[in-house]
Amino acid sequence: MSRSPKYLTTPLYYLNAKPHIGHAYCSILVDAVARYERLFGGETYFLTGTDEHGQKVDKAAQARGMEPQAHVDELHLAFKDLWPTLNIAYDDFIRTTEPRHKQVVTGFLQKLWDDGEIYADDYEGWYSTTAERFFTEDELVDGRCPDSGGEVTHIKERNYFFKMSKYEDALRQHITSTPDFIRPPHRANEVLGFLDKGLGDLCISRPKERLSWGIPLPFDAEYVTYVWFDALSNYVSALGWSSTGESTKAFDDWWPGANHFIGKDILTTHCVYWTTMLLALGIPLPKHIIATGWWLSDDRKMSKSIGNVVDPLGMKDVYGPDVLRYFLLRDMVIGLDSNFSEEALVRRNNSDLANDLGNLARRAAGLVTRYFDGLVPEPGAPTDDELAVMNAAKGLAANLMGWVDKLQIHQAIEETMQFVRQLNKYMTDTAPFKTIKTDPQAAARSLYTVVEGLRHAATVLGPVMPVKMAELVAGLGVEPVERLDDLTWGGVAPGTKLGLETALFPRRDLPVSAEAEATPPKKKKKAKAAAKAAPVAADGNIDFDHFMKVELVAADVIEAEKVEGSDKLLKLQVSLGDETRQVVSGIAEHYSAESMVGKQVVLVKNLAPRKIFKIVSQGMIIAADTADGGLALMAPTPRVPAGTRIH
Ligand code: MSP
Repeated sequence: MSRSPKYLTTPLYYLNAKPHIGHAYCSILVDAVARYERLFGGETYFLTGTDEHGQKVDKAAQARGMEPQAHVDELHLAFKDLWPTLNIAYDDFIRTTEPRHKQVVTGFLQKLWDDGEIYADDYEGWYSTTAERFFTEDELVDGRCPDSGGEVTHIKERNYFFKMSKYEDALRQHITSTPDFIRPPHRANEVLGFLDKGLGDLCISRPKERLSWGIPLPFDAEYVTYVWFDALSNYVSALGWSSTGESTKAFDDWWPGANHFIGKDILTTHCVYWTTMLLALGIPLPKHIIATGWWLSDDRKMSKSIGNVVDPLGMKDVYGPDVLRYFLLRDMVIGLDSNFSEEALVRRNNSDLANDLGNLARRAAGLVTRYFDGLVPEPGAPTDDELAVMNAAKGLAANLMGWVDKLQIHQAIEETMQFVRQLNKYMTDTAPFKTIKTDPQAAARSLYTVVEGLRHAATVLGPVMPVKMAELVAGLGVEPVERLDDLTWGGVAPGTKLGLETALFPRRDLPVSAEAEATPPKKKKKAKAAAKAAPVAADGNIDFDHFMKVELVAADVIEAEKVEGSDKLLKLQVSLGDETRQVVSGIAEHYSAESMVGKQVVLVKNLAPRKIFKIVSQGMIIAADTADGGLALMAPTPRVPAGTRIH
């Protein structure tokens, strides 16, 4: 099935400070989605840029003793030049100070003014410079900005207003009738909740005497445009939208496939301000607005004032851009928050990249060099062992699009790494280093299979680590495949010269702080306890984002047996639809193994695997104690497809 063209956008980054890891994540995510999309045969247009007007940027310029224009001319390069070094390939970079953008904003304002959608009135409210938004008294939290926690200033002045309230019903209607318009769904509920409080009109001007750094209103030279009205328009100004109504080819080609990726803090501005602006202008709404969670540092949002900002430049310079990309994409479930730590990044690098993937490539290349003069050997006829690997490779390629379309990028990566682990196991089980003496054909078969398997893994991981995976593919002596459809088993021709001399992913030492913590056991315990306690507030409650991190899914029991030597434990194989898990569960006193087969249960899916009775258990089954000392397993009623997420 052909894919419709996708217009993928990041937010425009404020030029009040240098880029940090949260910005880098947004841009890396969109870049990876664009690369996946192209691998699926789709077409993409990727827009990013910088938000250069408004009070926040003006203040930053003042703090540096610079004119705002000189300040943004310099600082936008910190973003524009950073992205290529993180292997981010955007198609266009828009600055809100560019004439092509200002012209469209002016056209929008004039059109809305002419259509009677804008009026003048007195305004009184609280302004947050950090969020660049007005708030009502009721919206403040402890007298501070509810979005950023920053200070607010009371302001009373005459301003211009956009009749946003007129569009409340139309917007509500669109959100409720288009279930995946705002993703993930709990963010749509948040927007509906906001609308239910009643939508007011939007103040879209700032008097020049208070703020002159902005686009002048075309109908009143004493005012400049509110920075959000200005910045949001970039998504169409970059496509050359014209207020006179003639559409451009770029607009017609890309706008129907618009996907705005944003952070959860700018949900209202995108899902309410931008959408109502579009409704008033008669422009169709974007296809999707996707809100991601935040990267936290010590369980708090990174911010300059707290001083817990992680510098992406530093991480990239030490570990390399693709390792950073891998970590950010693997360790964030889209829509939820995640904690950033250098230690976690190093552990991921060492386990997944250096050990599972890099080592496998090195071992295979080493053996091919030693036994076959560095030339990929003939595979011969596959046995069941090879067929299992070939089927897994096929399954991986077939399922990839589903995970990416569901925005489960972490899952797409994890499934790929499970395939890599399977290849490692296959290599160990078939032991070409042993069979070379007794059955050279078997050794040839297994080395061919590992090399071809690596080509599959590298292709599928290409969107996540474009440069490193291109290196791996080149090391396998083959041309990269551009489209997943062309990835069929047997792409590596026997006789190809392997060139994998250097380690793709060197192992790294844990950062000093993590190592120091690992030494004194008492300290470690304390730190562990603190880390455990962190998500729980003093009143025992956990916040919504932490709860949403727990992945509960419906699972079908396909096999069950008693664990030898234990009265309490059953070992179960459960299906999650596209994945089978092994779970050890303490239910044997209440449920026999036979009675479990065919049952549907609820599984905690993202619990770290642990060994129970030396058996790895990948998840936990949920049950309730009954009044008579029994146990009642939980299950969705009616039955749902295995793998369905339970909220
Ligand atoms: N200029 C506005 C956006 C205008 S879009 C027309 C803005 N800029 S920002 O620089 O403050 O933020 C840009 C994006 O970075 C937002 O989506 C925000 O959520 C994201 N992040 C900033 N800090 C973040 C983390 N710590 N983690 C993840 N993303 C976060 O808002």
